[in-house]
Amino acid sequence: MELRYILLFIFLVFCEPSTQYRFSQKFRGNYQKHPRVQNFESAKYKYEIKTIDMPVDHFSFSVSNTFKLRYLVNNTWQKAENPPIFFYTGNEGNIETFAQNTGFMWEIAPEFEALLIFAEHRYYGESMPYGNKSYADTNHLGYLTSQQALADYIDLIQYLRSKSEYKQSPVIAFGGSYGGMLSAWIRMKYPHIVQGAIASSAPILQFTGSVECDSFARIVSLDFKAADPNCAELIRKSWGVITNITSTDEGKKWLSDNWELCQPLKNTNDVEQLKAYLEDVYGNLAMANYPYEASFLAPLPAYPVNVVCSHLTNESLTGTELLLAVQNAVNVYTNYTGEMKCLDVNNSTPLLDAGGWPFQSCTEMVMPMCTNGVNDMFEPHSWNFDEYSKDCEKQFSVKPQPNLACEQYGCERLSTATNIVFSNGLMDPWAGGGVIRNLSASAVAIIIPEGAHHLDLRASNPSDPFSVVLARSFHRSFIKQWITDYSKNE
Ligand SMILES: *[C@@H]1O[C@H](CO)[C@@H](O)[C@H](O)[C@H]1NC(C)=O
Ligand SMILES: *[C@@H]1O[C@H](CO)[C@@H](O)[C@H](O)[C@H]1NC(C)=O
Ligand SMILES: *[C@@H]1O[C@H](CO)[C@@H](O)[C@H](O)[C@H]1NC(C)=O
Ligand SMILES: *[C@@H]1O[C@H](CO)[C@@H](O)[C@H](O)[C@H]1NC(C)=O
Ligand SMILES: *[C@@H]1O[C@H](CO)[C@@H](O)[C@H](O)[C@H]1NC(C)=O
Ligand SMILES: *[C@@H]1O[C@H](CO)[C@@H](O)[C@H](O)[C@H]1NC(C)=O
Ligand SMILES: *[C@@H]1O[C@H](CO)[C@@H](O)[C@H](O)[C@H]1NC(C)=O
Repeated sequence: MELRYILLFIFLVFCEPSTQYRFSQKFRGNYQKHPRVQNFESAKYKYEIKTIDMPVDHFSFSVSNTFKLRYLVNNTWQKAENPPIFFYTGNEGNIETFAQNTGFMWEIAPEFEALLIFAEHRYYGESMPYGNKSYADTNHLGYLTSQQALADYIDLIQYLRSKSEYKQSPVIAFGGSYGGMLSAWIRMKYPHIVQGAIASSAPILQFTGSVECDSFARIVSLDFKAADPNCAELIRKSWGVITNITSTDEGKKWLSDNWELCQPLKNTNDVEQLKAYLEDVYGNLAMANYPYEASFLAPLPAYPVNVVCSHLTNESLTGTELLLAVQNAVNVYTNYTGEMKCLDVNNSTPLLDAGGWPFQSCTEMVMPMCTNGVNDMFEPHSWNFDEYSKDCEKQFSVKPQPNLACEQYGCERLSTATNIVFSNGLMDPWAGGGVIRNLSASAVAIIIPEGAHHLDLRASNPSDPFSVVLARSFHRSFIKQWITDYSKNE
């Protein structure tokens, strides 16, 4: 997840979405230069912003460059020496976005008298190892790996613990989506430094050999079907209608005008890009299908999938009528605020700057994705690793390593893991790559049947289903247990 506010997007060439890996760059955002100033004035939570010097390369003795890694601190609730440190392992975006969308940590900090830390992931937000050259080429970008990011977080924790007031502080990692993978992995890799982890909607099994490539698309489709069975059917039907109508210049113009596209469709590549955009939007809607109005991937109403599907109930819609209904449906995502001038199909997640994700998904984070059009509402696209790999070589001059994540962190035989809560909402398309079985006595799976993407990490809300209230109370009692166990052993 989750995923992506601003910054500057530097020098990366836009790459055409290729049909082979639709969805697989899911946490992605706009990777064009697209500076935007994020307004945090209305932001709910307050913190101090600090930086710490970090080595660009933790794992060699040949690169001595350093950079400033950004982190957010709030020590308001700390009452005594050695308070618990609640440490958010930042994911692919500006850390302030994640701080604002992780109300759970803020809500439980007073009860635990905890110090709150939100650490920014290198190459995102303002934590750029080589300033505005960070994205210039693979030589500069190559230090963007999860291992390096975890080592950054460990250095930051060790720095905090070097102060006498935090010397014995237990550290609990928190994270959602890719951040949740990092929180689970930091506990697995560094159990002597991190005492426990809440890993929400963390698809640590979304890798070759551990997941069926169509699981993401299947869950998205189930969400739409649950909202209205005709909705998923109409979306399935819409792909062919789009293909048909855009087969003529007249049709391309009709669709460009009626859907108010920023760039009129010129060729089949543009049509493919439009379809990939729609797939992204449907996936994002499923991820952000929260029970109340929220602004995570985009500003959205409560249960946005239901609102989208309220436009797609009439099963006899066909042709241009169907496409106009789809437009009204998609507008729920793209234009909820009514401020959108035209439909920009280049970026489905304008709120989250996940500029580096395409590189990560071309190196370590190879998440196979496919659709078959039968169990899901999409056009069939197989997973073709060779094509995927070629695209990555073309874009970044790197060869993807599809087995690296499982080799580094483990996808099987995870029973040695301890002190981790894996929580998954069953409406979340990423649940298919999540841990949904208990791994050991203290590495447990919590299921939130009505939950979308890391709903449990968000602030509590009167509209929350009971299952998420319960999940949060599980989290609290596990955290208490980990802290008690740690202080007994100190
Ligand atoms: C920490 O959060 C509290 C409560 O929201 C707020 O009053 C305080 O100003 C914050 N501290 C900093 C340093 O921003
Ligand atoms: C990159 O940063 C340098 C030093 O801060 C600055 O002089 C230069 O104008 C920047 N280049 C771009 C393209 O922003
Ligand atoms: C596409 O057009 C062809 C020929 O006009 C028609 O037979 C077919 O049903 C159309 N398909 C869809 C999905 O509209
Ligand atoms: C459903 O769509 C068909 C075809 O456009 C139309 O004739 C019919 O009135 C619509 N039904 C409803 C309930 O809107
Ligand atoms: C967005 O919504 C506003 C208000 O309803 C409308 O005026 C505008 O045309 C919409 N933009 C697009 C691109 O549909
Ligand atoms: C979308 O990307 C294409 C290809 O890079 C570019 O030509 C076009 O201007 C972009 N459209 C918008 C609205 O930014
Ligand atoms: C995992 O164990 C916990 C108790 O430690 C239990 O509450 C939970 O239901 C179990 N999860 C699954 C998926 O069986």
